[in-house]
Amino acid sequence: MLEERLGNRPCGGKYGDIVQAIGHTPLVELKRLSPKPGVRLFAKLESYNPTGSVKDRVARALIEDAEERGAIQPGQTILEPTSGNTGISLAMICSRKGYPLKVVMPDNVTIERTQLLQMYGAEIVYSPGEQGSNGAVAMALDMAEADASYYMPYQYGNQANPDAHYHGTAVEILEELDQVDMFVAGLGTGGTLMGNGRRLKEENPNTIIVAAEPLQGELVQGLRSLDDGFIPPIIDISLLDRKIFVSNRDSVIWTKKLLVEEGLFAGVSSGAIAAIAVRAAEQLDEGNVVFIVADDGWKYLSSGVYTKPIEQLEAEGVLESASFW
Ligand SMILES: Cc1ncc(COP(=O)(O)O)c(C=O)c1O
Repeated sequence: MLEERLGNRPCGGKYGDIVQAIGHTPLVELKRLSPKPGVRLFAKLESYNPTGSVKDRVARALIEDAEERGAIQPGQTILEPTSGNTGISLAMICSRKGYPLKVVMPDNVTIERTQLLQMYGAEIVYSPGEQGSNGAVAMALDMAEADASYYMPYQYGNQANPDAHYHGTAVEILEELDQVDMFVAGLGTGGTLMGNGRRLKEENPNTIIVAAEPLQGELVQGLRSLDDGFIPPIIDISLLDRKIFVSNRDSVIWTKKLLVEEGLFAGVSSGAIAAIAVRAAEQLDEGNVVFIVADDGWKYLSSGVYTKPIEQLEAEGVLESASFW
């Protein structure tokens, strides 16, 4: 019956405000991208969060943890280095809770990111684009040292970041699947991999945790290579079973595949993660593989990634230039 087929889960929950509505994201099976019949591939759509990325969970945890510890009170300025998503999430949450926000980010991120931050009332401080997110981190640390009135949550070293996944994302995945054989996510701060990895391995020590890392010198927005010299303090490398490198080219190809084959309008890091998830899943005979769709594609539209053929992107030099996404 049509009614039954159109019938949905009753509701994703009822909440007092938009901050509380963070999380509870859908887990969607991708049948066409699964490498073999016995292997089921699931995407956890973090793009369904209020500002469109996984970082809503983290930003909420960073601010509410500081509130609970008495470290901040409304009116205090929050300072954070971020290449985009965490800043956008913090901007929304800080505007709701009454904290002015200063975001330090590379000057070559897309115009959409700048506008989203401004839209939520954040102040932007630009760091040199060629230094990537490491340059933003260094500049923010200097600013915080010079002015003690800032509160810097510092997602790279704050346990509230992985905890947001340990208590949130991972629990939601385990509510839906009896067994998780492999979990794949991108490596940025490492929060997603650490929090989910720890919780999923507590449930099943055999769950294989796979990190998608950009090739050194190729900067997929939001991701970092541990070989570039900075290992975020929250990362415990022993929790990662595998680290697999992915090129910008493959990240874009798989971003397109997610769109064309499965109807998912995801960000470029999700293409990188999907490429690695499918490659790693090929090595299983059967089982459930979960990967993270960290954000949606709106912020990357101006790069042309979704509309131009790969050859054109290549010819225009878009693939070499992380600044386009
Ligand atoms: C688009 C995108 N993908 C992936 C990640 C990586 O997540 P994490 O910081 O939890 O390692 C980020 C983090 O900044 C991101 O913005």
